[in-house]
Amino acid sequence: MQIALLGYGTIGHGVVKIIESQATKQLRRLHVSQIWVRPEKVDQNPLFTADYQEILANDKIDTIIEVLGGLDPAYAMINDALEHHKNVVTANKAVVARHLTEFTTLARQNHVKFYFESSVGGGIPWIINLERALRIDQIDSIHGIFNGTSNFILDEMMETGAPFDVVLAEAQRRGYAEADPSADLDGDDIENKLCISASLAYDTEIKPNDNLLKFGIRNITAADVSFFKKHHWVVKLIGRSFRRDNRYNFVIEPTLYAPGEIEAGVHQNYNYVGLRGTTIGKLSFNGQGAGELPTAHALIQDLLDLELHMEHLNRNFQQELELDNNSKLLDYV
Ligand code: HSE
Repeated sequence: MQIALLGYGTIGHGVVKIIESQATKQLRRLHVSQIWVRPEKVDQNPLFTADYQEILANDKIDTIIEVLGGLDPAYAMINDALEHHKNVVTANKAVVARHLTEFTTLARQNHVKFYFESSVGGGIPWIINLERALRIDQIDSIHGIFNGTSNFILDEMMETGAPFDVVLAEAQRRGYAEADPSADLDGDDIENKLCISASLAYDTEIKPNDNLLKFGIRNITAADVSFFKKHHWVVKLIGRSFRRDNRYNFVIEPTLYAPGEIEAGVHQNYNYVGLRGTTIGKLSFNGQGAGELPTAHALIQDLLDLELHMEHLNRNFQQELELDNNSKLLDYV
């Protein structure tokens, strides 16, 4: 499978690192052929190009991985890729939350795939399991710790008593935080992830909007944390959504838990995401929700699923050819 990467930041590096490790036979079938970077970033790396048309015109490249983040130029580049019959895999929750229906429709029209597992829950196989649950169930709630940076900050503040700014700098150094960490601190990143999850779960288009009840962690001080600790509470930034009949709601807010509760045991940059379905009941997952390698892992899982899908298409095509040949032979005989 020949791949082009759009962007070469933390996650892009992670993708190349894992693929180049060639650690499994599946990884040995993946090849990064080109990397699109902004003109000022083009250097001696032979894979780098700032010419997107060159990538789009390259018939050998069947799949684009978009790891630019943000809306511009990611939105236009994803559209162009799908229109040029390239599969797209992305970790970009901001663009997926706003354009999911549009991208999936465009992908279908162009007979390619649009995958976005890594956009929610980092390394957790969340989207795939949500979709599996939906094959059988109606889902009436989604809940969890959807942001690794804020969880890391609150966890470190609880553990060490360090002030907010110091811990935020450490989260940025570790590559958990967004380029502009406001999205992590104010709940916007969770909003994107809840919109993606709920759009799938409730089979409707839900985009980020101003009606959402959203509180972040910016105002939580070392003194607050020490007060919580003294009273045996653990603070977590939680996102939840409930559906009742045709109505649904969302809330994002710091919430206190007793030490024995599942949420209280989610440490560092881990995420905890869950749903409640009609027959499966409560189902939840715990794993690294941010960072170079876990997010790159989820992106590459999407690539391997795509590869399976393409193999399947090829096999069907081969079978059709064989049938055709047979029928010609029969005609001839
Ligand atoms: N900044 C995000 C987080 C990255 O901390 O969860 C993964 O979406």
